[in-house]
Amino acid sequence: MAMKDQFDLLATKAQQALKGGGDDRIEAQHKKGKLTARERLHLLLDEGSFQEIGQLVAHRSTSFGLDKQVFLGDGVITGHGTINGRTVYVFSQDFTVLGGSLAEAHAAKICRIMDLAMRNGGPVIGLNDSGGARIQEGVVSLGGYADIFHRNVMASGVVPQISAIMGPCAGGAVYSPALTDMVLMVEGTSYMFVTGPNVVKTVTHEEVTSEELGGASTHAAKSGVAHFTAANELAALDMLRKLVGFMPNNCEEKAPAFVYEPGDESRPTLDSILPENPNQPYDIREVMNAVIDPDSSMEVHAEYARNMVVGFARVAGEVVGCVANQPAVLAGVLDIDASIKAARFVRFCDAFNIPLLVFVDVPGFLPGTDQEWRGIIDHGAKLLYAFSEATVPRITVITRKAYGGAYDVMNSKHIGCDMNFAWPAAEIAVMGAKGAAEIIFRHEIGKAEKPAEKLAEKENEYKEKFANPYEAAARGFIDEVIRPCDTRIKVIESLRMLRNKAQKLPRKKHGNIPL
Ligand code: HXC
Repeated sequence: MAMKDQFDLLATKAQQALKGGGDDRIEAQHKKGKLTARERLHLLLDEGSFQEIGQLVAHRSTSFGLDKQVFLGDGVITGHGTINGRTVYVFSQDFTVLGGSLAEAHAAKICRIMDLAMRNGGPVIGLNDSGGARIQEGVVSLGGYADIFHRNVMASGVVPQISAIMGPCAGGAVYSPALTDMVLMVEGTSYMFVTGPNVVKTVTHEEVTSEELGGASTHAAKSGVAHFTAANELAALDMLRKLVGFMPNNCEEKAPAFVYEPGDESRPTLDSILPENPNQPYDIREVMNAVIDPDSSMEVHAEYARNMVVGFARVAGEVVGCVANQPAVLAGVLDIDASIKAARFVRFCDAFNIPLLVFVDVPGFLPGTDQEWRGIIDHGAKLLYAFSEATVPRITVITRKAYGGAYDVMNSKHIGCDMNFAWPAAEIAVMGAKGAAEIIFRHEIGKAEKPAEKLAEKENEYKEKFANPYEAAARGFIDEVIRPCDTRIKVIESLRMLRNKAQKLPRKKHGNIPL
């Protein structure tokens, strides 16, 4: 073949691959309010940075007419590119090709990208939009999924893995995103479920729509499967770019820092942020926002277990992971969902060398049969385990209440926190003063002429003794009691001091977190 013909053939094949499932299917995709797989990559990555791998891969199946439906690329676009100059490994499922369904060749392309990411130490971002296992190819699809799942697990804690759900994601297909670190869903056009509405109706007789069963808001607020939701695809791709900015390339590196210009780090607004009445709520995010660099945060799991706030932020340009009880929701109590949410975030940060900054205002664990019967004992232990095991720099600020077991769990000195501070209003005690007085002075109060007055007197006595940070400080459980306005200064200085922290865990195969 003449050289020109060879070049023409190459150009024809590339053109064919770029067309995916063809113009009609691309139009149908757009009509659903969805971008194509290539358009998504174009928006996700730095302009012109995408390098495709496996553009000409095709399936080898001849079953059920597939021999007449061969699309170059086999329904997934794979390769690498950059986000703000940093290399990421990507795959983007093409719903216009056989519904983005996954089979042998499609899976092998994803595996190839994951292998490259592992060898070279870079994040993997998957854009999911697929009808699931390619039905015509049968069992090879199942093998393909399992090959990916296995790689997801091997890559876990080695390179960051992020999944964006931008269309259907059903059946066993959901388990790849579930094994990754962060899941983002697009509102209205994406859903995830193990079994769809029809199966649900047959088995449990429940009538439920796809959106109710597994749409973005369901997974963001109810199940916690989704860490983020975006109003549309453009917003979703923007969020992915932002999210990667908080992550290192791999577990051997630190997240990229911003240049920081030191200035006046005192934050006088914090001195008046707590309500006069210690039982009044306030928004812990206001405290966090005053301590971190302005506009530097990205909340994770914002709609799920809102009594706990977790998210990424920067302090003096360095990435930190913030974990905080939220007194504005359920008084900041620790329950099952809050424990799981925080534990998972703590483990992510620890795996990827992101220091932890923890704000504590917690009245204890949530009582009740619901919590006990669903295993708050084990779930609360997850958070205790996650903090105890974390070897990254760990800083705690107790703003107000730190009661009971929750004091221990919330990154206390005893479980390995490096530096901890308490505000003067902190109450570090076994329980609230009223509850404590009712128990230990029960007989005295019962016999008193005026029991209410006696209770108030005993409550005050207990408050004076324990409802403050000084007993704990006297024992060295607290490193320093500080004015709230100095919190940012103390956090910056602590992070500086802990920059080279190198702590090793005892040698073991792996621990046994109470899953
Ligand atoms: C092959 C598929 C496909 C699949 C969709 N298509 N899903 N081809 N295998 N799994 C094809 C359609 O035939 C159609 O081809 C094109 O993709 C677009 O599909 P539509 O149905 O027209 O699109 P839409 O109306 O948007 O519906 C999307 C959908 C639906 C809800 C995803 O296609 C659907 O229900 N698909 C089957 C889902 C499923 O049961 N998958 C298997 C799950 S089990 P044409 O040629 O018309 O464009 C599973 C097990 C994994 O995944 C286990 C791992 C351990």
